[in-house]
Amino acid sequence: MKNSSNSKSGVVRISISLPADLLTSFDRVSRRVGFTDRSKAIQAAIRAFISENEWLSGSESSKGAGLIELLYDPHTRNIEKALTLIQHNYYHIVTSSTHIHLDDDNCLEAILVRGDVRSIKKLANKLAENKGIKSIKVNFQVI
Ligand code: NI
Repeated sequence: MKNSSNSKSGVVRISISLPADLLTSFDRVSRRVGFTDRSKAIQAAIRAFISENEWLSGSESSKGAGLIELLYDPHTRNIEKALTLIQHNYYHIVTSSTHIHLDDDNCLEAILVRGDVRSIKKLANKLAENKGIKSIKVNFQVI
């Protein structure tokens, strides 16, 4: 990645490399969102990335609250029992959970959590390592 700065405006110009199909998808989605300027869309994407992951760079003892979203295959042997037992082991940070049966092969479990960054990371990792988990998203706000 190269960059050059224009100190007058505070704007930095960069040049990046990315796969053509990734750029095509990005342009398609950003147009659908309403962006007509690619630079503005990329700025919004970078801000969202920072906001989504900033909690990971703070102190492990920082406290906050958030949501863990799990998408999984309900046909995987013992998965529901395993997920429930893990949440029991972290009862001090799990405040509630909701389950949606999306279709024959997909369940979404939304787990509200409150506590320190270290515990939230541990819980998310324990949940993620189960067979049958298709994706996990953590949205956490440090307070
Ligand atoms: Ni279900």
